[in-house]
Amino acid sequence: MLALASTLLFAAAALAQSTASYPEGVVATGTMGTSLARLLTINSVDDWCIFGPPTEQNISDSETFEVAWCTQPRNNARVIPDGTVTGVSLLKTDMYVQIMAYGNFTNVNIPPGDYGGELDPHGATGAGNPVGGNVTTNMTIDGQSINVAEWMLYIDYEMVCFRACTWANETYSSAAMCWHELDEMGCNFVMPGNYDFNGTFETCEADVAYPPGWYVEGVNEGTTSFSSFAQYWTGEVSGVTYTIGDLVTPSTVQFIPSSSSCVTVPTISNGIALASLGITDAAAATGAPGASGTGTAAGAGATGAPGSSGSSGSGNSNAAVSGARVFTGLTEAIALVSTIAGVAAIGLLH
Ligand SMILES: *[C@@H]1O[C@H](CO)[C@@H](O)[C@H](O)[C@H]1NC(C)=O
Ligand SMILES: *[C@@H]1O[C@H](CO)[C@@H](O)[C@H](O)[C@H]1NC(C)=O
Ligand SMILES: *[C@@H]1O[C@H](CO)[C@@H](O)[C@H](O)[C@H]1NC(C)=O
Ligand SMILES: *[C@@H]1O[C@H](CO)[C@@H](O)[C@H](O)[C@H]1NC(C)=O
Ligand SMILES: *[C@@H]1O[C@H](CO)[C@@H](O)[C@H](O)[C@H]1NC(C)=O
Ligand SMILES: *[C@@H]1O[C@H](CO)[C@@H](O)[C@H](O)[C@H]1NC(C)=O
Repeated sequence: MLALASTLLFAAAALAQSTASYPEGVVATGTMGTSLARLLTINSVDDWCIFGPPTEQNISDSETFEVAWCTQPRNNARVIPDGTVTGVSLLKTDMYVQIMAYGNFTNVNIPPGDYGGELDPHGATGAGNPVGGNVTTNMTIDGQSINVAEWMLYIDYEMVCFRACTWANETYSSAAMCWHELDEMGCNFVMPGNYDFNGTFETCEADVAYPPGWYVEGVNEGTTSFSSFAQYWTGEVSGVTYTIGDLVTPSTVQFIPSSSSCVTVPTISNGIALASLGITDAAAATGAPGASGTGTAAGAGATGAPGSSGSSGSGNSNAAVSGARVFTGLTEAIALVSTIAGVAAIGLLH
């Protein structure tokens, strides 16, 4: 069992703001249709952004150079065509804001069937996946926009979950609350909540989830101790083979926060006729996506329980290859074996 006390409970600033430094010039500007901007915002149910490939290709192949796509014209980014998004649940909690969305994200250049991947401000270079990716929100106590230091975005061709960790305290750092090393676990596990919202556009309050992979171990004299799940990974760093993580994958989280005080809107729209701007990149801007089922594994189904299907299909040699709905789904409870052979490798590769 991996004791977290020493590794993750470092004292964090109360308000998590970006202190990361990035290479200059990576937040590019451009015209709306071909923009290479990498600034995301999560402000409201109809004003948010995600990263997607600049041209059609799998997330796992484009994670370092993905670009911003926004529901509204903002950030000098590309615009998500109206009709793309079929459901949104935006959660406000005491420690993070979280957006979950269903849609036809082939409209943002994700190939049909791509199980996607995980993006965060770390990455192989330490400058983020994508490099220089930057996230702001105005869902703060005083309504002022802040740049968040820690965020995580899981995306595939029909589902997104995105958490910006705005607050931290002595129990939960923002790094723990936006823990970025569970890229094969899927939205239900990493960002638990009510995923039964397709067809609804809502803004809700929600309780704070445990940080991804954390399980309560016990309470002693008022202090809660946790164990944590580490995704199994084996790979090579500078010629040395490392194996890290737990041999058994938990089947579910300990606690699924429910949403409350939800306010719904009928739909979201920016009203932009992209075709009239000569933008073909984001084709098929009009009309609601069709209602055909895709036949793929429904890891993010209606109950909030993780799906147990979905072959990750990917080798473990790359840090972020599987996406929003993939869940390896073994039924045993919490893993008991942690083979920590190269903790440094985690930092290097995620
Ligand atoms: C894209 O990912 C899917 C599964 O997520 C895989 O079947 C396909 O081969 C990948 N395409 C490329 C070009 O790697
Ligand atoms: C992130 O975006 C904010 C707001 O636009 C900007 O002030 C800041 O310079 C950006 N940071 C980086 C590293 O690009
Ligand atoms: C935050 O952004 C949303 C959407 O852009 C806007 O409607 C709202 O007024 C902003 N909040 C504040 C406090 O400015
Ligand atoms: C930190 O916030 C969480 C979520 O609100 C809460 O459960 C926890 O008790 C807080 N810890 C401290 C030390 O205040
Ligand atoms: C998604 O959008 C593409 C491009 O507009 C379209 O061809 C496809 O049929 C849509 N998929 C679904 C499930 O609606
Ligand atoms: C969400 O609803 C749309 C429209 O009904 C449907 O096409 C799509 O397949 C649904 N998405 C998921 C992941 O079930």
